[in-house]
Order: sequence, then structure tokens, then C-alpha cells
Amino acid sequence: DQSQVSVQELAKEPLIAVPQGFVRVDDDHLRPPNDLFDETTNMPTIDMNKLVNTGEATDVDDELEKLHITCQEWGIFQLVNHGISSELLEKLKHEIEAWFNLPLEEKMKYKIRPGEIEGYGTIAKTHDQNLDWSDRFFMIINPILRRKPHLFPQLPPSLRATLQCYFLQLNKLAMALVGLLARALNIDVKEIKELVEDGMQSVRMTYYPPCPQPERVIGLSPHSDADVITILHQLNGVHGLQIKKDGVWIPVNLVQHAFVVNVGDILEIMSNGMYKSVVHRAMVNSDKERISLAMFFKLKCEAEVGPLASLINPQNPPLFKRIPMEKYVKDYISRRKFDGKTYLEQM
Ligand code: SIN
Ligand code: FE2
Repeated sequence: DQSQVSVQELAKEPLIAVPQGFVRVDDDHLRPPNDLFDETTNMPTIDMNKLVNTGEATDVDDELEKLHITCQEWGIFQLVNHGISSELLEKLKHEIEAWFNLPLEEKMKYKIRPGEIEGYGTIAKTHDQNLDWSDRFFMIINPILRRKPHLFPQLPPSLRATLQCYFLQLNKLAMALVGLLARALNIDVKEIKELVEDGMQSVRMTYYPPCPQPERVIGLSPHSDADVITILHQLNGVHGLQIKKDGVWIPVNLVQHAFVVNVGDILEIMSNGMYKSVVHRAMVNSDKERISLAMFFKLKCEAEVGPLASLINPQNPPLFKRIPMEKYVKDYISRRKFDGKTYLEQM
């Protein structure tokens, strides 16, 4: 059996100590208490209203400049005024909470099958690696033909309808962001849009149960995302996300009605290293469950992952190899170690 038992079930038992497999030895876990936020390290906020509404041209330019610098220095930002209605987000919260609260045997119908990566559970890693304090449900959602018949189509109809609505709206938002990134990079929007539009997309719902010894475990091991951008929704308003910046773990503050958007490895490669993907992890706490929903935007299946042609010139030679998208994804899955930046093959 390649997937671990449900941590949610485990956490229901009256545990005094977490099982050994979850215990982390403190390597670089300079653990800032999750509820202490230093004003000076708060990551930047990008305001979508300032970027899309035809207000003062200088405002747009200022915000684009901020986006550009943020993607270089942080690789992650809070996105406010993203236009997704709070009604939809509220519905999504209820539906996803209800799904995780289903009896285990119901959820096991969606269990990760041998040799696959999609479904409910967590793929066991090599034995030298610890278990994460979370349960996940990962699915490819685009291209639609790639949806596994036993996953998305079998979800309870109300969850499926709500998710479908969310995917459509998030896809629009992601494409708008990609357009803005092209402007920030000063390249033709078409050059990047044609690679990302109707590309591979996937989603992960993650459930982090409360933990009796939160300081001894990690909810989601450090990694960078193998995509162009990720849009993260911290569904039930509990924080836990941390980023590694200049060698130090920094907790990400929770901003009301904001999504967290991060630069993935593919965007780092496309921008020829100008934008940096961010290493991040999720921590848990002793009293509150935490649920997040991450949507990952990659390239078209037939695209190639590589630096964008218009960013390459004799002064800026390509820093990364060109790899077909499908191979890139396969290699990522087989190599990932969850110990930092995962897969950036340099020249
Ligand atoms: C992620 O890395 O995609 C999710 C982190 C989180 O749950 O905050
Ligand atoms: Fe991630």
C-alpha cells in the first residue's frame, strides 16, 4: 500500500505524542511561532483593481513595477481584489469541509491507486523521509480528457458544481495574471499566453488536522511548485504557510479575502531566472484544523519548458535546458524529494 493512513483519523484518537514517523529532527527548522508576525517581513500585496481597471496610467505602472520586483525578490504575494465572490468562496468552504468530514470508507473510494499520483491520501516517500501531518486530494482537472473517471466525476454533485465554477473563475484570473506577468517582463503577451492557455491544470485540497505536538511535525514538507503560478486559497482562515527567504523561514500572514499567489519553477525557467520560485511549507497547530485549496497552472501538454525566446540574447544566454512539458512533469514526479527547490535543470 503506497498511501499512508488518514492523518485525520489518527488525530481523532486521544494522542499524547505523535507517532515516530511524523517526528522531525530540527534541521533548519528555525520555527518562528506561527502567530508572531513581524510587520517588516510581511510579504507584498498586489491589488488586482489597480492593474485591470483603467484608472490612472501611473497607478497601473506602479503596481506592475511592484509585481515585477515582488516576483524577483519574493516569488510570492498576497493578491487582493481578485474578483472571486465571497459567496462562491463560502460555498466552497462548506462543500470541502463536508467532503473531508465524510466517513473514511467513503473517502477511500477516491484513494490513490497503485502507480498513480492522483486521488485521496499521500504517496509514501522513501523511508528516510518523514510523513507529513496532512491528508490530500490531488487531481488533474485540465485538459478535461485527462480527468480520471473515478475522481472528479464521482464527487458529490454539489461539491463538483461548486468546484467547477471555481475552476472556471480561477482559470480566468490566472490568465489575467499571466497577461500582467508578460507586461511586467516587457514581452508580448501572446508569447506566454499561447503556452499557458488551456494548459495542464491541477488542484490539491489539503486537510491539516490539529496536532498534539505541532512543533514536532510539518504539515507539508518544504518544496517549490513545478508550475507557472499557483493560486492558494486558505479556505477556513487558519494560517500555517511559511516561506523560506534569505535562508530564514517566515510565516505568511493571513490577509482577509486574499489569495496567495506564488511563482513556480516553470515561470523561473521561462523568465530565464529573473523571477524566482519560492520554497514553502505548511505548519500545523494544536487546536485548529486547517484546509487549503491550491490550484496549479502549468503549460500545454505539447509545449516545451524553457526560457522565453524574447528574453534570450547574447547578453542573456539561456540558463535552463528546454524540456518537453510531459517529460518535465514525469521527471518532477520521479525526482521530487521535498527538500527544497525541486526541479530546475540548469544548462
Ligand atoms: C501548497 O504548498 O500548495 C499548500 C500550502 C498550504 O496549504 O498552505
Ligand atoms: Fe506548494
